[in-house]
Amino acid sequence: MKNFNVAVVGATGMVGQRFISLLENHPWFHVTHLAASARSAGKTYEQAVGNRWAMPTPIPEAVKNMVVMDAVADVEKIAASVDFVFCAVDMKKDEIKALEERYAKAECPVISNNSAHRGTFDVPMIVPELNPEHADIIPAQRKRLGTKRGFIAVKSNCSLQSYVPALHPLLKYGVKEVLACTYQAISGAGKTFETWPEMVDNLIPYIGGEEEKSEQEPLKIWGSIQGDKIVNACSPAITTQCLRVPVSNGHTAAVFVRFEHKPTLEQIKADWAAFQGVPQQLELPSAPKQFLHYFEENDRPQARLDRDSEGGMAVSIGRLRPDSQYDIKFVCLSHNTLRGAAGGAVLMAELLAAKGYLD
Ligand SMILES: NC(=O)c1ccc[n+]([C@@H]2O[C@H](COP(=O)([O-])OP(=O)(O)OC[C@H]3O[C@@H](n4cnc5c(N)ncnc54)[C@H](OP(=O)(O)O)[C@@H]3O)[C@@H](O)[C@H]2O)c1
Repeated sequence: MKNFNVAVVGATGMVGQRFISLLENHPWFHVTHLAASARSAGKTYEQAVGNRWAMPTPIPEAVKNMVVMDAVADVEKIAASVDFVFCAVDMKKDEIKALEERYAKAECPVISNNSAHRGTFDVPMIVPELNPEHADIIPAQRKRLGTKRGFIAVKSNCSLQSYVPALHPLLKYGVKEVLACTYQAISGAGKTFETWPEMVDNLIPYIGGEEEKSEQEPLKIWGSIQGDKIVNACSPAITTQCLRVPVSNGHTAAVFVRFEHKPTLEQIKADWAAFQGVPQQLELPSAPKQFLHYFEENDRPQARLDRDSEGGMAVSIGRLRPDSQYDIKFVCLSHNTLRGAAGGAVLMAELLAAKGYLD
């Protein structure tokens, strides 16, 4: 595989920091440019990130003294210097939409963690194990944008990153209705306990916009390309409640499912154990060997014990049992800033590189 120079746009943020840690020793992708707001531009990365560095490993030496560029003012300079950008910025939705289109139109592919373009009909929202074929929409998007190389591909929301993979191998049984309650870590809001002390010994029963995303985005992932559009799936019907809980990292979901053709619990466990996607077949560098891990223990998965499974890229599942109102219920967990954000985006970029979209 060839080597790619990349920029992290939003490098000083929680997800940006994850990108920088994950890419430190990446075999294909090399961080050569960093960008953030005008507040950080012109500073070294170490100065700009200051005491916000929240990763378990130190700031990589290679980026410490890199001068941060302005994500908005320097679009053309950045686009001309790298093969593609990872983007995770905290700006207004319409500003992010415009910014990502500027990068794409400057012929620089954008691998995005932002939600702004998730609803755009020709922007693929890829979970590499589930819908890698949605990359096939990229030529249609390039045509609309008038680009040769530039395009935008997005990651889905972190909340659904545990239950959508767990449901995916069960679609063949006709998943009709899903109820999911999510228990989401504070890093999902870009926070730590130091920066959000009110979350210690607390629970907040509201995360703005999260329930809509958790209910709608799976239908795009399970949708199909029709002409120059991705058309959402019509089912299953999904209802969610999303709660913020005092956990640093790792989103858990309690899930209830009704099927058209109810499988046995043993069939479900066998489907989870056997499930493999294109990333496993291609042995992409960030792909977990086993995507779905099932625990027989009643007290697993636990955020602290299981969120880092396979480098934080695997999904952990447990407590599968019959339900008195739905057919089954289970609990699942994924690392929100690894699989749910930066790690999932790196894996998507690996998939797109392997398919030649980043050449
Ligand atoms: N945290 C998660 O688990 C997670 C998961 C999935 C998706 N996301 C999404 O990823 C994005 C970033 O989230 P985060 O948690 O990393 O946020 P964050 O920690 O608040 O970081 C925000 C980043 O955006 C930059 N920024 C802010 N205003 C800007 C502006 N006007 N122009 C250019 N850059 C600007 C900041 O730069 P300065 O440091 O210079 O201000 C910083 O680098 C959001 O869209 C979020 O919804 C987050």
